[in-house]
Amino acid sequence: MTHRPYVLLSCALSLDGYLDDAADRRLVLSNDADWDRVDEVRASCDAILVGANTIRRDNPRLLVRDAGRRAARTAAGKPENPLKVTITATGDLDPAAAFFATGEQVVYAPSGVDTPGETVPTGARVDLGTVLADLYERGVRRLMVEGGSSMHTAFLTAGLADELHVVVAPFFVGDSAAPRFVGDGRFPWDATHRATLAEVRAIGNVAFHRYLLSRSEVDKHWLRRAVELSRNCPPSSTAFAVGAIVVDADGDELARGYSRESGGTEHAEESALAKLDPDDPRLRGATVYSSLEPCGRRASRPRTCTELILAAGIPRVVFALREPPTFVDGQGAEQLTAAGVEVVELPGLAGAAREVNRALL
Ligand SMILES: NC(=O)c1ccc[n+]([C@@H]2O[C@H](COP(=O)([O-])OP(=O)(O)OC[C@H]3O[C@@H](n4cnc5c(N)ncnc54)[C@H](OP(=O)(O)O)[C@@H]3O)[C@@H](O)[C@H]2O)c1
Ligand SMILES: [Zn+2]
Repeated sequence: MTHRPYVLLSCALSLDGYLDDAADRRLVLSNDADWDRVDEVRASCDAILVGANTIRRDNPRLLVRDAGRRAARTAAGKPENPLKVTITATGDLDPAAAFFATGEQVVYAPSGVDTPGETVPTGARVDLGTVLADLYERGVRRLMVEGGSSMHTAFLTAGLADELHVVVAPFFVGDSAAPRFVGDGRFPWDATHRATLAEVRAIGNVAFHRYLLSRSEVDKHWLRRAVELSRNCPPSSTAFAVGAIVVDADGDELARGYSRESGGTEHAEESALAKLDPDDPRLRGATVYSSLEPCGRRASRPRTCTELILAAGIPRVVFALREPPTFVDGQGAEQLTAAGVEVVELPGLAGAAREVNRALL
């Protein structure tokens, strides 16, 4: 598998889903507070990519505006501004464009292009996978894609996107000659495979939405919540504090539970599953997110959480921390895997799950 940067798509839309109007001047969709939010995202990225047509139409500078953010980047050993990246087939780019004015630039084109900055000749058509692999080689770990329509469409339909930021401005463009957010295509996120809404926020009079697209980001999102939930557990000197959340294939939460939730000795997964009808068909496509590996052996109850998960027909389990052999030697993950359940361990969140249980470990 070739490595690629984390890809974050960002755009502002009208209520009817347009990125711009059909007139020559640039349409203002957002407001100052939102531009400041975009500036913060830019400052957090190693590179910013726009399609060649956005350079021609909008002449964006693609710089970090805030001096404090630039200083923080420099202090962290990074360039003041992210690398600017574009893709062109025709090579029709004005060397005097603001894109080339400050900082470093890379242009991906089928053959050499006579502009400032570096050109990477790609031969025939520019392939996004090749672009991402090359950016990774250059040290880019976090890439922001700021449009336009063809770029968003290409990254999304290729499934090469981890996160999407959409700002909706409260007005209509009402002209189908204007560019829409995306063109036609087959998108991995359709009515049956939905993206995960992670955040919605009013910024003045516009609405900011943050969606998680890649499975790895969705998993981290829910598992973080499960770890947070484990903080609610009544303390115990003989059992771990665990949080569990059951999420269906559409990304909707079905139930959540935590250890000793009703004052007894119940486990988090047990508590969550007890809130659901075992015949609920959504369980057959669900994922259990548990801060700790589901138990595979158990002193206090007849059925282990592993057995309960299997009985519910849940096909996928994601957890943060392997059950430490403090009380019993778990083996839950092995039992689940042997029974055909997809088990994903995210050790990146194990520290947080351990921290909640520090008194026991
Ligand atoms: N509201 C927002 O957030 C926002 C943000 C950005 C842009 N916009 C708007 O979006 C509109 C531009 O969108 P757009 O779809 O027309 O243009 P775009 O995505 O900015 O650029 C399209 C161009 O990129 C190049 N390109 C794309 N894929 C390529 C590939 N695989 N290989 C080689 N070259 C490739 C081609 O350049 P060549 O033509 O040079 O061959 C193509 O014409 C503008 O109206 C702009 O204002 C809005
Ligand atoms: Zn258990």
